[in-house]
Amino acid sequence: MIAALSGVQIGFDDTGSGTPVLFIHGFPHDRSLWDDQCSALSTHVRCIAPDLRGFGESSATVSETGEPPVVGSGTSESVSIDQYADDLAQLLVHLDVKQAVVCGLSMGGYVAMAVWRRHPHLVRALVLCDTKAGADTDEGRKKRNELIALAEREGSDAVAAAQITGMLGKTTRDKRPDIVARTEAMMRRASVAGIVGALTAMRDRPDAKSTLSTVTVPTLVVVGDEDVLTPVAEALGIMSALSPEATAKLEVVQGAGHASCMERPAAVTHVLADFLAALSVHS
Ligand code: MLT
Repeated sequence: MIAALSGVQIGFDDTGSGTPVLFIHGFPHDRSLWDDQCSALSTHVRCIAPDLRGFGESSATVSETGEPPVVGSGTSESVSIDQYADDLAQLLVHLDVKQAVVCGLSMGGYVAMAVWRRHPHLVRALVLCDTKAGADTDEGRKKRNELIALAEREGSDAVAAAQITGMLGKTTRDKRPDIVARTEAMMRRASVAGIVGALTAMRDRPDAKSTLSTVTVPTLVVVGDEDVLTPVAEALGIMSALSPEATAKLEVVQGAGHASCMERPAAVTHVLADFLAALSVHS
């Protein structure tokens, strides 16, 4: 489905009914990252999985006429993590969702934290997967700029090739060529405009530790034990930055790397299902 919002068109899936859960993909992904969880969980909850601005079926640019731009149109322009969060808040309002469990992986986690900071009334609970609280270091920003240059020079295939090893754990890379192929295909589909927009947004994002200290909703932190991009130490950093009111729980998924929800789909679905069940008990 496509939602024509103010200044942007957002592609999304909306399946099932019950507690709304907003699934936010990472970089350079699209909403298919969460296909396994949405198909398993939509028998119990409402799964809303959007493409972030510039990815999948979502447009990259803001129209000068104020009309939603045509999907896939335009070149990259300045985008921020806050802009992604505002797009998703707009989508929830458009779908008449009063509150959702906001679940993001990696860059999607940065967006989830920004949704909490900017639109806390929309957040029923948070799930932060394979992500981190800190801003980029100087070295990290330099690497973002190098990846922007690579994307502009050689396109998304080159970015996918540069990212695939870090994206997946060793177990998946050694034993699951099907998952490697699916992940790589998803990354190759990303547009250069989307890639450049996201790299700029991540490079310039603020540190989220002060945001985490304000979280008052139940929070689940998930990380693959083989995640090398945002390792278990980063998940522990999130846990210690979160307010005690978040009653945070950490789940380490064995045999998964950074894209844990694609690598160990049943295990991630299981921890999500348990968290969602506990929420409905306590609501
Ligand atoms: C992601 O998977 O979204 C990225 O690895 C996040 C990042 O590069 O900071």
